[in-house]
Amino acid sequence: MSESAWTTLEALPRPRLEQLFADPRRLEALCTTLDLPGGAIRFDWSKTHLDGPVIEVLAQIAADMDVEGKREAMFGGEAINNTEGRAVEHTAQRGVGCPDSVDQAMANHQRMRGLVEAILTGDFGEVKSLIHIGIGGSALGPALAIDALTRDGARVEVHVVSNIDGCALEQAFSRCDPKTTMLALASKTFTTIETMTNAESAIEWMRQAGVEDPYGRIIALTASPAKAMEWGVDETRCLPFSETVGGRYSLWSSIGFPVALALGWEDFAAFLEGATAMDRHFYEAPLHENVVFRAAFADLYYAQARRCETRAVFAYDERLALLPDYLQQLEMESNGKSVTADGKPVGRPTAPVTWGGVGTDAQHAVFQLLHQGTHLIPVDFIAVIASGDTLDPAHHRILLSNCFAQGAALMAGQKSDDGARAYPGDRPSATILCDDLDPATLGSLIAFHEHRTFVNGAMLGINSFDQFGVELGKAIAKRIESEGAAGFDASTAALLEAAGIGAG
Ligand code: F6P
Repeated sequence: MSESAWTTLEALPRPRLEQLFADPRRLEALCTTLDLPGGAIRFDWSKTHLDGPVIEVLAQIAADMDVEGKREAMFGGEAINNTEGRAVEHTAQRGVGCPDSVDQAMANHQRMRGLVEAILTGDFGEVKSLIHIGIGGSALGPALAIDALTRDGARVEVHVVSNIDGCALEQAFSRCDPKTTMLALASKTFTTIETMTNAESAIEWMRQAGVEDPYGRIIALTASPAKAMEWGVDETRCLPFSETVGGRYSLWSSIGFPVALALGWEDFAAFLEGATAMDRHFYEAPLHENVVFRAAFADLYYAQARRCETRAVFAYDERLALLPDYLQQLEMESNGKSVTADGKPVGRPTAPVTWGGVGTDAQHAVFQLLHQGTHLIPVDFIAVIASGDTLDPAHHRILLSNCFAQGAALMAGQKSDDGARAYPGDRPSATILCDDLDPATLGSLIAFHEHRTFVNGAMLGINSFDQFGVELGKAIAKRIESEGAAGFDASTAALLEAAGIGAG
């Protein structure tokens, strides 16, 4: 049924962007400003090819795919992650969802708050730094939030370490005094090899420095508290969260502990509140005014009708430098699938590759391809009106004017008789412009992207909440650890041998 609608979408007329702007109501129709707890955020999708007919077809697909029903099921705590038999309840962590799950999340938050305040008021002696060890969803969110929100200083300095490469952990060691450092071990499963290996080495670092009870300096952030306790973390320092919170959606749970410690509880609560406001918008706003649906519709239009294989995100704000990394996991791990929730081939492109960087740096590196290359790449620009620095206002003014200039240039292009100097134009971009970058605004921004990812997946019939694609490589790495190079193809066996790992 939807297949023919996708075909209809592909066959729709393709007016150029500047033709679309002939409609004087275009900006009003496709640019929405939401008043959110941290200030306003303007979502300007007018420089995309969304128009009445495109939106109509996509709304029809949304109806065919029962996206609103799926949204209801998610907020209602139904087991929409069908391949793992789990509900999807990250929104309960910020107070929206099935009442029992919300109560449980609030109780877990109270526990987390108690520990944050105990550390900040000195119950653990002098604590100057926290090494947060986790990977993927257990690291990317904390790293983003801390980098974005603590540029002016933090209550406790946090170092996020994810990679198994010892260089990462050693760098954190070199910046911390083991006697005034605590460790947060963040792992939903409490089995991830990188995290457990780094944790052992961090304990050893403390022990060698003469810290008497290194295990007494550990906080576990996990959905598997029994495993954490078995490993040696005292129950009073295990901060649990529900299995129904996916790893890449877990920043709102106790995985956000380092953020709460760095900012203090009030700011962490504001971060949650910003996300809650976006949950309510997504849940309550009619489809045609819903910024989440609008963004997802544009994503799908480009991936499906125009066959764009990537989408780019440029933060014109140094504080959001880690946002593209965060969105890569969110979008690619959620929707980088080939089968629908019932295991049948999707038969269409799924998640494009998410990539990006920071402006203006990226302008001097990759924007050539955006303006004149042969790929059509929809771009999101994200900027903040209030400057994050205290230097001459010229810095921020030039930053923002460059951001807006890029969107205008991509759209308008420029004719020239000299091919090398001609810009085709008609290249789409969306702009998200925030009043300020405070905890609540960051919460709203991240929640917006979570729901956008959900709608993208739901429109294609994908289960956005499993990630079986990461398992095979892990299993093979384990096999190498136990059995060495035996049984591998010639290339892999030779690589193992060259690196001296082949013996088994
Ligand atoms: O390997 C992928 C993954 O399972 C991610 O989905 C997850 O965020 C990450 O590993 C870390 O997992 P955990 O929190 O269980 O250590």
